[in-house]
Amino acid sequence: MSLDTLRDQFPALQQPGLIYLDNAATTQKPNAVLEAMHRFYQEDNANVHRGAHRLSARATRSFEAARDSVTRLINAPVRESVIFTKGTTEAMNLLASSLGSLVLQSGDTVVIDTWAHHASIVPWQQAAERVGARLCPIPLDAEGRLNEAAFLTLLAARPKVVVLTQIANALGARAPLTRWLPLAKAAGALTIVDGAQAVAHEVVDVQALGCDFYAFSGHKMYGPTGIGVLWGKVEHLQAMPPYQFGGEMIHKVSFEQSSFNQLPFKFEAGTPAIAEAIGLGAAAEWLMAQDRPALAAHESVLLERARNGLAAIEGLTLYSAFEDNAGALAFNLDGEHHQDVGIWLDQAGIAVRCGHHCCQPLMAALDVRGTCRVSVAAYNTADEIDAFVDAVRDMREFLHDEAN
Ligand code: ALA
Repeated sequence: MSLDTLRDQFPALQQPGLIYLDNAATTQKPNAVLEAMHRFYQEDNANVHRGAHRLSARATRSFEAARDSVTRLINAPVRESVIFTKGTTEAMNLLASSLGSLVLQSGDTVVIDTWAHHASIVPWQQAAERVGARLCPIPLDAEGRLNEAAFLTLLAARPKVVVLTQIANALGARAPLTRWLPLAKAAGALTIVDGAQAVAHEVVDVQALGCDFYAFSGHKMYGPTGIGVLWGKVEHLQAMPPYQFGGEMIHKVSFEQSSFNQLPFKFEAGTPAIAEAIGLGAAAEWLMAQDRPALAAHESVLLERARNGLAAIEGLTLYSAFEDNAGALAFNLDGEHHQDVGIWLDQAGIAVRCGHHCCQPLMAALDVRGTCRVSVAAYNTADEIDAFVDAVRDMREFLHDEAN
């Protein structure tokens, strides 16, 4: 599939006058995903793992086939290690609650990067608070990268858990995972990677990464909302207590006691998001059918074009806009409120996100109340980037003229 025809597969992008550059918030969905979900509701709709009838058998087959697709997408060693969740947020809550109750004790530390999303910070902050442990942030260095010397100092205290954001949602900057994950492991920590912003942009191999847990969301990788994945090493998932209780996750229940189902069902209480899981499976298959290196190269050309264009605008500040950023760039027009920039761009039909991006500690570290974030996907074009840069420049010039 060539990049020229790839865009044709996304119905939402066919609207005239729309330049969608808010892909870090959520991506648009290709026909393959929309059709898989539609087909499920039209032909196979039934509950999974429960019914004696053919619809339920078909629904179960499609649902479990989606798990197989995700297993291949991230090269998980076994399908039982792929847990369906509502998204990255639920995956992080599951971990903080279940793993947290298993491993954290008073006086322990949990290390987390300053780029982290609230969905990583708050669950671990609460888990730490419950037992008298401490959440320790890895600060930024002068260039706006994560400070390696500080990380090493935090590791010297032998944290129980290290949480790293593979690609910062608010910035597009990358954590040095290949160097840092082995360091964290050597310090005896369990490692968790928030991969929400990574899966759409690069091939993820959880075995090659060598982390203990990996979390991501369907809707940021061309799949539906309401579905995501927690991947974990089987030995850890087996040792962890269930996160939620109810149907599906039990083996045997009496009023005196209950025993629990095997993996992955132990962590999938209640009727799952069946159509969404099937949509996620379709998104995984769609991604795997693409020329991933070509998509990544295209996105990196777009981002470089945006960075060069923005950098040439006087009175514009870029944040952690490195050459190896993936997917996103953050900026502010000096002296202007980020929301005003967003409104100006929206008037030109250009969708970006403006605000704190669910990263208030990062905004505090950058000493800003918020930023504008432009984020690309494989279907964006150089013309769209040029239109976006032109619109930001127009705003700067308009404001300059007004002020004089
Ligand atoms: N976490 C999503 C974002 O970065 C919503 O916009």
